[in-house]
Amino acid sequence: MIDIKQLVRANILELKSYTSARDEFFGEEGVFLDANENPFGILNRYPDPYQRKLKEQLARLKDVQPQNIFIGNGSDEVIDLALRIFCNPGVDKALIFTPTYGMYAVSAAVNAIEVLEVPLTQEFQIDVKKVEEVLADSSIKLIFICSPNNPTGNVLRRSDIETILERFKGIVLIDEAYIDFSQEISLISALDRYKNLIVSQTFSKAWGLAGARLGTAYANEEIIALFNKIKPPYNVSTLNQQAAIDVLNEQSVFEENLRVIQSEKQRLIDELQGIETVLKIYPSDANFLLVEMNDAERTYNALVERQIITRNRSTQVANCIRITIGAPTENNELINALKELV
Ligand SMILES: Cc1ncc(COP(=O)(O)O)c(C=O)c1O
Repeated sequence: MIDIKQLVRANILELKSYTSARDEFFGEEGVFLDANENPFGILNRYPDPYQRKLKEQLARLKDVQPQNIFIGNGSDEVIDLALRIFCNPGVDKALIFTPTYGMYAVSAAVNAIEVLEVPLTQEFQIDVKKVEEVLADSSIKLIFICSPNNPTGNVLRRSDIETILERFKGIVLIDEAYIDFSQEISLISALDRYKNLIVSQTFSKAWGLAGARLGTAYANEEIIALFNKIKPPYNVSTLNQQAAIDVLNEQSVFEENLRVIQSEKQRLIDELQGIETVLKIYPSDANFLLVEMNDAERTYNALVERQIITRNRSTQVANCIRITIGAPTENNELINALKELV
């Protein structure tokens, strides 16, 4: 049985967290003379530090309790806080599966936490045997698994993820930033079974709110309490909380946008397959395609010249560019440009 307290850095466990004015009084009505706010203006009041209204809606959507939800300034904040809660700088390590999202390593470096890399297999799946060998290192405290993975685009096999959740006695953070684009069932449904599981999602992708900076973490109450303990008190602004509530209330817009992105993705795949310079289109469960070109560098630069910006991911996967699925007109521009470049 995993005891979360045993996994937490001692200073975080002992920490007496900051209590804001809004921690002491929750009501919305009254004469508020407690937080040194300005009495005049529209945004003059501090936001709800625990985003209660937003969490109530999310709890219904995700079939969890509000106490199982943390909301951060993007899921990048979730990544950073997880490292700070569970890894001692200069002592503990985090494990990632490469190629993957770059912020795990950057955030770990900022926190002086060494990162061990286990390469994904040729099919971009987890090499479970290799993981078992690496896990002999007891200084590994946190494992990041990105599924669907960025930049490869594929979902990682759920049975492999669950094997790791069972064998590893530290924390496993599953980054599901792109889950809404895939057919895969979120691991949120497995929270009851794994005490060491954190699932992070985001409003930046399928919900279309990258500019608002809203990331979520789902975990057991004890872990969520730790996130709340160390986060900056007002990490999600009033405007951003409302932006999230607004998109959640427009479920039909969400579904329609998703439908268009999916059909555009298929159209893009079909078109790319007919282009000579395209060598391979990797299977994608996300809103982007990893595409091997005959000369990725040349294609990337030629597209930039036409003000079409893709991502050259050749340092991660040889000779590949990553293409986000755009609006129909944007995708047309890309296709036309690629045809001209041949
Ligand atoms: C896998 C993955 N996780 C997290 C993020 C960051 O999300 P957010 O905008 O919520 O910080 C990204 C952004 O591209 C991503 O690709």
